Amino acid sequence: MIRVGIIGTGTIGSELALQCITTLKEEVRLVGIVDTDVQRERLLRKQLGLSRRYTLEQLVPQVDLVIEAASAAAAYPIAKTALQHGKDVMIMSAGGLVHHEAAIWKLAAEHRSCVYLPSGAIAGLDGLKSASIGRIRKVSLTTRKNPLSFRNAPYIVQKRIDLNTIREETLLFDGTAEKAIQGFPQNINVSATLSMAGIGSKKTRVRIYACPGLTHHVHEVAIDGDFGSIYTRTQNLPSKKNPKTSHLAILSAVATLKRILANIKIGT
Ligand SMILES: NC(=O)c1ccc[n+]([C@@H]2O[C@H](COP(=O)([O-])OP(=O)(O)OC[C@H]3O[C@@H](n4cnc5c(N)ncnc54)[C@H](O)[C@@H]3O)[C@@H](O)[C@H]2O)c1
Repeated sequence: MIRVGIIGTGTIGSELALQCITTLKEEVRLVGIVDTDVQRERLLRKQLGLSRRYTLEQLVPQVDLVIEAASAAAAYPIAKTALQHGKDVMIMSAGGLVHHEAAIWKLAAEHRSCVYLPSGAIAGLDGLKSASIGRIRKVSLTTRKNPLSFRNAPYIVQKRIDLNTIREETLLFDGTAEKAIQGFPQNINVSATLSMAGIGSKKTRVRIYACPGLTHHVHEVAIDGDFGSIYTRTQNLPSKKNPKTSHLAILSAVATLKRILANIKIGT
C-alpha cells in the first residue's frame, strides 16, 4: 500500500484521484489533494470522501508519493519539497523542471528518492532511453495542433500572432526545446521529457505548426543515432475537459502510477 498526495486536481489530477479510490484502491491510499482553486478542490474532496484540507507542506510528510498535475511554475517547488522530505515525486508539468535538472537530480540522489516523468502524449521514449546508452546524433519533435490550442501562449502573445487569421498549416516555431518550453509552457511538456531522456533541451529540435480544422494533437518524434533511427507519430484526441491536454497524457499518468506499483515492469 503506498500513500499518495495529488497537487493540482484539474483534468489529470482528478482522473488520477478517481483511479486511486476505484481501480487502484487495494494498492493506493489517497491521503489528500491540494489545489489553488479552493472551490474545485472542495468539490473533488467531497466526491472522494476526503474531509481534511491540506497545504502542500502539511500533505508531503504524510505520503510516500507526491503527484504534481498543476502547472509548469509549480513543478519545481513541488518536486523540491517532496524530495527534501525523502519522498518520491511524479511530475506532469515536465517543462517546469528543465532549468532545474541538475538541482533535482542532486536532491533525488541525496535523499534516495525517485522522480517519475510520464511519457505523456508521445510514443518513443522507451527507444530513446535504450538508444541513449549509445550515441545519439539528433532528436526532434514536430507538433501539429489546432491554432486555438495555442491561445495565450507567451510566444503567441509576445509575437502578437493573431491565431484567428490562420487559414492554412503555418509553422509557428522552429527552435530548441528550451525555447519551445518557454514560449509554449502548456503545450509542449513532451519536449521537456524528450530532452531529459535524450540529448538535452539545448540540442533537441522542436517545430510547432498551427493547423486550422485539425481535431487531434499530432506529435512526431524522430531520433537518429548509432543504433539506426526511430520515427513515431502519435495522433491524440484532446481531453474533453481541457483541450490543451491530450487524452493519452491522462492515461499515461495513470499508467505510470500502475508501473510504480507493479512487480513486473515492461519496457526500458
Ligand atoms: N507531461 C505531459 O505530457 C503533459 C500533458 C498534458 C498536460 N501536462 C501538464 O500537466 C499539468 C496539469 O494538466 P491538466 O490538463 O490537468 O491541467 P488543468 O488546467 O486541467 O488542471 C490544473 C489544476 O492545477 C491547479 N493548480 C495550478 N497551480 C497550482 C499550484 N501551484 N498548486 C496547486 N494547484 C495548482 C489549477 O487550479 C487546476 O485545477 C499542466 O501543467 C499541463 O501543462 C503535461
